[in-house]
Order: sequence, then C-alpha cells, then structure tokens
Amino acid sequence: MRLTLSVIKADVGSIGGHTKPSSRMIAAVEGEVAKAICNGLLIDGFVCHTGDDIAIIMTHTRGEGSSEVHQLAWKTFLAATSVAKTSGLYGAGQDLLADAPSGNIRGAGPGVAELSFDHILSGVRPAESFMVFAADKCGPGAYNLPLYLAFADPMYCAGLMLPPMIKGFRFHIIDMDNTAGDSLLELDAPADSYHIAALLRDNERFGIDRIISRTHGEVVVAVSAQRLHAIAGKYTGKDDPVAIVRNQGIFPAPEEIISPFAKAHFVGGDARGSHVMPLMPVPLNTPVTGMYCLPIVSCVGFSIDREGRFAESYTDFFDNPAWDEVRRRAQRKAIEMRSQGWSGAAMLPYSELEYGGFRDTVSGLLKRFRLRDERKPEAAE
Ligand code: 13P
Ligand code: 13P
Ligand code: MG
Ligand code: MG
Ligand code: MG
Ligand code: MG
Repeated sequence: MRLTLSVIKADVGSIGGHTKPSSRMIAAVEGEVAKAICNGLLIDGFVCHTGDDIAIIMTHTRGEGSSEVHQLAWKTFLAATSVAKTSGLYGAGQDLLADAPSGNIRGAGPGVAELSFDHILSGVRPAESFMVFAADKCGPGAYNLPLYLAFADPMYCAGLMLPPMIKGFRFHIIDMDNTAGDSLLELDAPADSYHIAALLRDNERFGIDRIISRTHGEVVVAVSAQRLHAIAGKYTGKDDPVAIVRNQGIFPAPEEIISPFAKAHFVGGDARGSHVMPLMPVPLNTPVTGMYCLPIVSCVGFSIDREGRFAESYTDFFDNPAWDEVRRRAQRKAIEMRSQGWSGAAMLPYSELEYGGFRDTVSGLLKRFRLRDERKPEAAE
C-alpha cells in the first residue's frame, strides 16, 4: 500500500494567553478526526498539542496534498476556532490566514509536513516507525541544525558510517523568502555538506523541506518549512514548525535523531517572536508557562501496523529524566541571554522584526532623523 503520513498543525486559540489550547478544543479536534477514521478518509489519527499549537497526525492513502485530507484539517481547525471563540480564548483562529481555501491548504496558514512510501513491511523496512517533532514559539528553521547533525554528521549519528547510510542523504532545501512559490535546491551530504551548512545557518530564510536516503531513494524527513509572515504579509505569531522523521534500519535510530537536541540551541522566537532563545525539549502536551516564553519542542514516536494504524500507543521521547539536564541547561542559557535584554544578538535583527510592531516604532523614529548640516541651528539664548 502507498501510505501517506500527514501532520497538519495550527494555533487556533489558547487559554490565559498564548499557553495551550483548551481541552474542549482538543475534544472537538479529536471528534472530527474520529469521524474521518470512521468514514474511511483516514486510516488513523492522533491529536496532541505543543504549547498553543494543535497537531493532527494522520495516516491515509490519499497522497500528499490531498484536498480531502487538507479540507478535513481546515474544517477541524475551524471547529476548534469556534470553540475558542465561544470560550473567549486568546488568538482564536490565529493561524487560519486564508478565507476558505479550496483543496490543498499549504500556504493558507497551518503548518503541513507530509511524506509517502510503499508500506510493505518487508525488504529494507520490515517494521515502520516514525517520530513527529512539534515546536512552539520559534521560527521555521528550528530543525535546521539538529536535522543536519543527525543526517550529515557522524559525530552525532555514528550510524551514518554503516553500509545502508554511508552514501549519505539528499537535502531538499527551501528558500522561504521566495513568495512566488516553493523554491527548492537539492544538495547531497556528505559531498555538499559545507554548502548545506552555508544555507542552513540562516534559520530565518532557508529550511529543510525534506531529506531522502541516497541509497534507497526513500524519503525520511518532511518539515513544514514555511514562513507565516510571508503568507500573511505581517506578523501573525511564530511559525512553530512540525517535522516527520522515519527511523531505524536504513535510517538513523531515535537516539541518533534526538541527541542534537541536547544542545538546546539558540533559535529565533520566544516573546513576540522577536528574541534569540534556546530550544527546550519538553514532554508532549506541555503548555508555555515558564519564565520568558521559551521556544519548546516535543517529540512523539509511533509504529505502524500492516493496515497503516499507529495510534494504539506512543513513545514520548522528551518525557525522560535524561532531558531534565538539558531543560536546566536551556533555562540557564535563557537566563544568560535575557540578562542582555534587547541588546544586539539577544533579539532578532531588524529585518526579522520587519513585520512586527517593533518595525513601526523604529520607522516612526527614522522619519525624524536629519543630516547634521540640515538640522536647524539652536535658537540663540
Ligand atoms: P536493543 O537490543 O535494545 O534492541 O538495542 C538496539 C540498538 O542497537 C540501539 O540502537
Ligand atoms: P504563537 O505563534 O505561538 O502564537 O507565538 C506568539 C508570540 O509571538 C509569542 O509571544
Ligand atoms: Mg499563539
Ligand atoms: Mg504557537
Ligand atoms: Mg504560531
Ligand atoms: Mg530492540
């Protein structure tokens, strides 16, 4: 069977500020997903949240970009928006930027990560397992560094030295600044790994769209690499990307994929989407309530049975005491960075504030600047 994994996520409202969706919203989403499983549109589905973003994780045979599956997600998020509105929640419908998009909703606000494969459970994939990363309060390139390290650096993934992976992986890199459409470049690791790094270092402009095994031609990673402000034309909250990563066998093992997150690397995001702060790995369904508004990331893992079902149970990768150490490090890095307040590297550069109110404040002041020679002389006493 040709199986598609679709993860579609959106922030459509949250309680007490930008913290988490309400349980009534989650119940509304679960209800719609259950109906779609019942009527055969989906094989299976799982609903969770990371901070204020709800993710719907689905298996089906409709292919990537299926208008039925995308419309289901859109209608489901509309239902959750209406619950959020009734309850007076913050940011109701925030990520639903288009007016009733028809068909595929990529580019309409919700984050979309999708990949497809022949689900035959034999040969190179005798078992199928995958992980879903979901991040809140951060920019679209939050996975650039950890995915690069897992798929291009044997210091993090020693499995890259094994025969099924030694030819490396093909990175499809997207230029998220191109508003004309998805603009992609394919580069191979390890041959082009310095070129890949030269692009991925810019988390705000370039992102990983997908990663493919060079030995087997199988897609292993799909990321929702799109910029919300490129869609909306103004700041409408942070991008909060999701990613699907298949694992084991011909792909890296889970621990090789998650170990780069032990860095708690700095990303753009946090309060008003405008600071540079560490990415903290957290358990599934964590609200954003700590001091500051730290970027967070969750990671849940599933196995898929012969029929394409997966949600009978799951593994919550960051719900483990080993990650407490990383969380403490992230918090320490955050306190250090925030002790610098608004100065220089602690906040995103001017170009990244372009779509926020900070830009209005600065442009108002820019109008008042005068060349030294053109300024009126001081009135004589
Ligand atoms: P197990 O023997 O627990 O399956 O260990 C597998 C492994 O190689 C870990 O990456
Ligand atoms: P969200 O995209 O999670 O709503 O982020 C809002 C924000 O700007 C944080 O202050
Ligand atoms: Mg929000
Ligand atoms: Mg969010
Ligand atoms: Mg957001
Ligand atoms: Mg085992």
